[in-house]
Amino acid sequence: MAERLILQTPPRHDTPAGRPLTLTDRHGRTARDLRVSLTDRCNLRCTYCMPAEGLDWMPTQDTLSDAEVIRLITIAVRDLGIRQVRFTGGEPLLRRSLADIIAATTQLRTDEGRVPATALTTNGLGLDKRLPELVDAGLARVNISLDSLDRERYARLTRRDRLPDVLRAIDAVLAAGLHPLKLNTVVMPGVNEDDILPLAHFALDSGAQLRFIEQMPLGPREEWKRGDMVTADDILARLRTDFELTPVEEPRGAAPAALWTARGVDKQGTIGVIASVTRPFCGDCDRTRLTTDGAMRTCLFSRTETSLRDLMRAGADDAALAAAWAGAMREKKPGHGIDDPGFLQPDRTMSAIGG
Ligand code: 5AD
Ligand code: SF4
Repeated sequence: MAERLILQTPPRHDTPAGRPLTLTDRHGRTARDLRVSLTDRCNLRCTYCMPAEGLDWMPTQDTLSDAEVIRLITIAVRDLGIRQVRFTGGEPLLRRSLADIIAATTQLRTDEGRVPATALTTNGLGLDKRLPELVDAGLARVNISLDSLDRERYARLTRRDRLPDVLRAIDAVLAAGLHPLKLNTVVMPGVNEDDILPLAHFALDSGAQLRFIEQMPLGPREEWKRGDMVTADDILARLRTDFELTPVEEPRGAAPAALWTARGVDKQGTIGVIASVTRPFCGDCDRTRLTTDGAMRTCLFSRTETSLRDLMRAGADDAALAAAWAGAMREKKPGHGIDDPGFLQPDRTMSAIGG
């Protein structure tokens, strides 16, 4: 095994009042879940995310080094009450040091004395080969994007003919016993609505938990119109043609997906719907985000961000970085405002923010 960075865990930086710092905003929400984007690059070109030619990738000197990203994750977990760390992109598997970053994260302990829960959101390409290394580093859970089971349609909507790779990744994660494996499907009008039922059958048969996601305005500007989006109600109506749906009783907490027990003729399981647009869950949001270039964002849709990278490179110590993070989080807006008349799409696309 490659040598890994061993981290010291000095005592927490407590506030003068003796209370630990948390990422709590003016609306009473406390962030416990950190989403870290490890690269803005991707080997797919999903139409809702990127133009065919890709985007102008960030210059390397702008992106956080491994030591910088590990330092910020350490501050978040050790000093700011973060309990779960999710690695995203772009495509996080394109970051060669991914296993080292996961290993450094799982050496930390949360304010409850636990190993932080780690998760990876990936398109799955090449995951089957990388998985043993990631599991060895302590990776706990995986979410894989899968928008169609039809090879041609998958190739059209990701602009790459890679469906077999994704299916191999799904098998590998199930075989490794990382549970639950979540599959993410963004539903697009006139593109993959016919995939809703086949995907649901596939997930229930394989034991993965599928979540259908309402498309959000985070990609190329012409790709999203409020009027033609496929809503959670449309998705549920489709599902009801083959399944009887009953809401899962357990409280949802900060989870974005509303869960349903789906019962079909010969199968049963849980299916989620993430209705970010038509039923926003901002009031329960427990997330804070870090972009590849070290900007802290309070929300996917923020119009402002705080560059922790610039502070760090100007010599700020851990306490100053923690204070800047907590201070900016206090100002987190109550909601994303997609339905407000003055709504403006963020300047960064999803791949540059981190999903
Ligand atoms: N709307 C909704 N979900 C999106 N994702 C990417 N772009 C969008 C969008 N515009 C999803 C991907 C992946 C996760 C990172 O976010 O499908 O599952
Ligand atoms: Fe890549 Fe994810 Fe964007 Fe698709 S949605 S192009 S997999 S970053």
